[in-house]
Amino acid sequence: IEPDADWRDEVLRLARERDAVILAHNYQLPEIQDIAHHTGDSLALSRIAAASDASTIVFCGVHFMAETAKILAPHKTVLIPDERAGCSLADSITGDELRAWKAEHPGAVVVSYVNTTAEVKAETDICCTSSNAVDVVASIPADREVLFLPDQFLGAHVKRETGRENLHIWAGECHVHAGINGPELARRAADNPDADLFIHPECGCATSALYLAGEGTVPAEKVKILSTGDMITAARATSATSVLVATEIGMLHQLRRAAPEIDFRAVNDRASCRYMKMITPTALLRGLREGKDEVHVDPVTAERARGAVQRMIEIGQ
Ligand code: 13P
Ligand code: SF4
Repeated sequence: IEPDADWRDEVLRLARERDAVILAHNYQLPEIQDIAHHTGDSLALSRIAAASDASTIVFCGVHFMAETAKILAPHKTVLIPDERAGCSLADSITGDELRAWKAEHPGAVVVSYVNTTAEVKAETDICCTSSNAVDVVASIPADREVLFLPDQFLGAHVKRETGRENLHIWAGECHVHAGINGPELARRAADNPDADLFIHPECGCATSALYLAGEGTVPAEKVKILSTGDMITAARATSATSVLVATEIGMLHQLRRAAPEIDFRAVNDRASCRYMKMITPTALLRGLREGKDEVHVDPVTAERARGAVQRMIEIGQ
């Protein structure tokens, strides 16, 4: 299917017919981002899903995001255009592994990144996203041990920012962000000395970026560790004329829309998430026509996970 005017009209007509709101993550294909009623980072989209009046949510993103929407809005119909859209980071810890880890640290507060399955969220005290992970951990009394999972690079960022020694970090990673590495960033920064660096905290290169700033290779104020939503805010605020972006390449579309005068370049232009890209124009149209794929979360699991997700959307407002 071509994402032309007929496709657009039909998608929006079917959405109206179903009383559906279409949400798209910043890593979606440009045509999906452009047709969505709302585009944003995982925290913003969770908040919109929780507050929306629509009876159906069509989540153009990956499965854990649609599951999170279902946990927050159990009485709504939640659809994802292709339920095979998983996440390598969410797959890096199971419910059993988390239960075993908790048993080794009785009394610790469990903070899970939103990139986790509903089963893992059900074992969690507070969920977070990359935009409020530091605030979430800072909200926990300093004398309590914290188990932070599953992303090791986001965990390292939170540990640096909070200075917390009693934070234990799971060794998971996202294959897309882990692949954006330090030597590649250093090379690109040397070739573009005036550029700002926008780095997602899931990146393998986040520590290297701070190292480059520490040794003076890049001015410290040019290095920004940001969630995808905060990258858009930073793009509107910066006086830089070029920005190197270390995250999934779908992000470039929203950044260019937000600040067309800035030259945005990917640090690694192969950093594409195959799961995010499963939500094609064809899949979105089919999903709306057929009411598929419907997302179900076992009600007992959803009930146990809801408190942690609710706390996540309340912190860092
Ligand atoms: P944010 O949009 O919250 O920064 O998340 C990034 C991500 O990798 C989602 O899969
Ligand atoms: Fe998961 Fe990484 Fe894809 Fe985000 S980019 S959905 S963390 S695999």
